[in-house]
Amino acid sequence: MGDKHVVRFEPVGIEIEVDEDQTILRAAAEQGVMLMHGCKEGQCASCKSFVLDGEDIDLDRYSTFALPDYELDEGYTLLCRAHAFEDLTIELLNYDEDMIRSGLPIQERTAEVVAITPVTHDLRHLVLKLSEPGELKFFPGQYVDISVPDTEATRSFSMANTSSRESGQLEFVIKVYPGGMFSEFLDQRLRVGDRLDLTGPFGVFTLRDNPDARLVFLGGGAGMAPILALLRSMAERGIDRPTTFYYGSRTQLDLCFEEELRELEQRLPRFRYVPALSEEEWDGESGLITDVVRRLEPSLTGADAYVCGPPPMVEAAIPLLERLGVVTKHIYYDKFTTTGDAGDSEVLEAGSR
Ligand SMILES: Cc1cc2nc3c(=O)[nH]c(=O)nc-3n(C[C@H](O)[C@H](O)[C@H](O)COP(=O)(O)OP(=O)(O)OC[C@H]3O[C@@H](n4cnc5c(N)ncnc54)[C@H](O)[C@@H]3O)c2cc1C
Ligand code: FES
Repeated sequence: MGDKHVVRFEPVGIEIEVDEDQTILRAAAEQGVMLMHGCKEGQCASCKSFVLDGEDIDLDRYSTFALPDYELDEGYTLLCRAHAFEDLTIELLNYDEDMIRSGLPIQERTAEVVAITPVTHDLRHLVLKLSEPGELKFFPGQYVDISVPDTEATRSFSMANTSSRESGQLEFVIKVYPGGMFSEFLDQRLRVGDRLDLTGPFGVFTLRDNPDARLVFLGGGAGMAPILALLRSMAERGIDRPTTFYYGSRTQLDLCFEEELRELEQRLPRFRYVPALSEEEWDGESGLITDVVRRLEPSLTGADAYVCGPPPMVEAAIPLLERLGVVTKHIYYDKFTTTGDAGDSEVLEAGSR
């Protein structure tokens, strides 16, 4: 443990105490303050903020794509990499007033593997049961960091279920990458009865209370997990807003949870599930998911949009949604950035200002 310093966030006026050994983002999460973030690894820039007061900050490894040198010189920082060595005042550039104060403090927990089931050739449905205490409070759409056994590494995975209160379980949909540190381990070595350590919940991919707004979900691959959680929670809570879920896959073999999604259409009469295939002609929608949305949606003015999946899909979807009339701050997204991709970025060893 290092010395502690006070970090104040503006314009929200929230103060937290930060140990020198932890990042500002981590300290905030531990104190239930939900700041905007994505990768937590200095790669995506979602946590970029401006230092209004104070200078003594050290940064862990980060990508200069996320924080170019000129921005560092101007006073920007990455909260997921920043350690405070004096009291600081930080201006949040990107925050969600509804979410920032509703955070649940993160917890470290152990869980036992209950099931690992293939839902497609490369997606696995992982079910964990929490060891005592058998509940972890989280909002549907949030994620946890799972430790990769026998390493220092963690990987983020979104819960597909809505609550662990009754079952004590956490459900995930995980894509298997050949050579993927966690996902290949999951596919080839992890067994029912094994234990995993996890930390969470994190994330702001949660349903905002905006009852009059139409909902549009865009997902691809394992991006199914948090969107399924949101839809399941809407069904449980009887939230029947006009909702469309566009789900992008390559072929019919990549589609999953079809039966449940069709059942959700029955339970939520104003919900429509639209799968689209990019590499196969069939009697449903064909093309990239963004092309399908462009074709079927002349206007999305007034809608709330939720986008989740591989970074290229999310990056293509955001400007499209803006062009179709969705207000930028009503586009909520989780980019499934991967640690293994870090080699593609220009990475500094460390930085400070
Ligand atoms: C907020 C958040 C939530 C997430 N939720 C989920 C989730 O619910 N389900 C899920 O499956 N994943 C999710 N991810 C991604 C997940 O955390 C891992 O990054 C992913 O599973 C790969 O980890 P790995 O250890 O298997 O592969 P790594 O060891 O990290 O990667 C090894 C290699 O695999 C290849 N690879 C890995 N990912 C990709 C990719 N996207 N595209 C192309 N090649 C790739 C690359 O060659 C890479 O170098 C989430 C990520 C974030 C940031
Ligand atoms: S969360 Fe900080 S750069 Fe991605």
